[in-house]
Amino acid sequence: DGTAFVPAVVIGTGYGAAVSALRLGEAGVRTVMLEMGQLWNQPGPDGNVFAGMLKPDKRSSWFKNRTEAPLGSFLWLDLANRDIDPYAGVLDRVNFDQMSVYVGRGVGGGSLVNGGMAVAPKRSYFEEVLPRVDSAEMYDRYFPRANSMLRVNHIDNGWFESTEWYKFARVSRDQAQKAGLGTVHVPNVYDFDHMRREAAGEAPRSALAGEVIYGNNHGKQSLDKTYLAAALGTGKVTIETLHQARTIRQQKDGTYLLTVEQRDADGRLLATKEISCRHLFLGAGSLGSTELLLRARETGTLPNLSSEIGAGWGPNGNIMTARANHVWNPTGANQSSIPALGIDDWDNPQNPVFAEIAPMPAGLETWVSLYLAITKNPERGTFAYDAATDRAALRWTRDQNTPAVNAAKSLFDRINRANTTMYRYDLFGKQVKAFSDDFTYHPLGGCVLGRATDDYGRVKGYKNLYVTDGSLIPGSIGVNPFVTITALAERNIERVIRQDVTAP
Ligand code: FDA
Repeated sequence: DGTAFVPAVVIGTGYGAAVSALRLGEAGVRTVMLEMGQLWNQPGPDGNVFAGMLKPDKRSSWFKNRTEAPLGSFLWLDLANRDIDPYAGVLDRVNFDQMSVYVGRGVGGGSLVNGGMAVAPKRSYFEEVLPRVDSAEMYDRYFPRANSMLRVNHIDNGWFESTEWYKFARVSRDQAQKAGLGTVHVPNVYDFDHMRREAAGEAPRSALAGEVIYGNNHGKQSLDKTYLAAALGTGKVTIETLHQARTIRQQKDGTYLLTVEQRDADGRLLATKEISCRHLFLGAGSLGSTELLLRARETGTLPNLSSEIGAGWGPNGNIMTARANHVWNPTGANQSSIPALGIDDWDNPQNPVFAEIAPMPAGLETWVSLYLAITKNPERGTFAYDAATDRAALRWTRDQNTPAVNAAKSLFDRINRANTTMYRYDLFGKQVKAFSDDFTYHPLGGCVLGRATDDYGRVKGYKNLYVTDGSLIPGSIGVNPFVTITALAERNIERVIRQDVTAP
């Protein structure tokens, strides 16, 4: 009847998906990965795979008429964005009513567009967020495994202290110190040796050419170079690109039947396919996996899903802010696009904040210090299925971000007072605004571990159905999330393969 059967299907190719596919392949299980985005390995007309940051073209964005950069303005002028043709580009901004969410699209998911910051959470906070997960096991086994597989590396301190490319970070560190605040180096998956060779003129420039959110042409060890390459290397895993999973139903024999739309890169529908499988792993990210399950519950194709599907979503307390420095305190025209230092005030009992010192790689002196603050915001959003659009709509209001803004403000007010400096009000769109409170890079939750699933990501109400990605984490993890997503996926898949997949 035209339906292909495979033992295991993994939806998505981000962190959770990539971990699951590799371990399934190693266990000898034939596995198909479905990815709605493209494989990014073909150079465009300019000889590069990815578009540059300053003159983005259609490769930059997922079906938009104009790019939607997070720092959309300078002196309230929209200098960063360009009109483009709708195309299966690498960065998506999903615009809900009062919150926008940036996500990666393509083989590697978020790893293609993210800043590569590879941070394990403070153990005490991990235990607070996921109290039913054995933290000793995580910190002894799965975090180290994730770091080594992801090829996390550390910047050489001597180079960091001397290179012009991190002057912006040293300036912010000095100002934080004046306010009594400490900083820490932030590990990364960008190859810092490559970056040093870029600086020395011995390697093609990527981080030192402002590349990051629309893809790095060099230097970044994204998932296609790590987990996914290893998964394909097992000989058991294949990846179908420009294939979007739309519906999931369970058949009488317990297997799952998916409908999948295949499109070309301009969005034209090429085929609607049916694929069936015994084990189904959802790694489509917090938005993607939650939407698939919510649609299945609300349209009755998986009616036994719990009411917890769609609940417990949060933006990881993301707030961006910027400060204006005095003219005698320039931050440098040359800035690496890869952050390497964070202000660590997480142990502050009133307002815990971990604030990464972000670059503003404009190619000219801006006197701007930019930050991505991660705060502890207890507010949570909920997804609701909207039948008219067949989409999951996020119920989250702007004022739910007030606790996060207040926490960021309390830290940066201290820094401004100690340095007699001010905020910049012109960088986050047309309004006069010092804090971006309307977008996140870190969507978390929607299918929370231990609530929508059991303690290993097995979806409640169904057998052989799993969630493997950021939707398991209940809205906050206190640091950039991908190392936690990876480590948790490693922990869960080990158990699932042993007990559900390969057990006699
Ligand atoms: P992820 O979102 O990575 O992957 C999901 C994949 O599924 C995507 O490829 C998507 O196209 C695909 N998909 C979705 N629905 C589908 C469907 N129905 N059918 C088929 N495919 C489907 N984190 C961090 O730790 N350090 C950092 O420095 C940064 N920086 C950063 C910058 C920017 C610009 C962004 C957008 C994000 C970050 N992040 C980050 C966040 C990090 O990238 C994010 O947390 C992870 O990528 C989430 O991993 P998941 O496995 O949950 O899904």
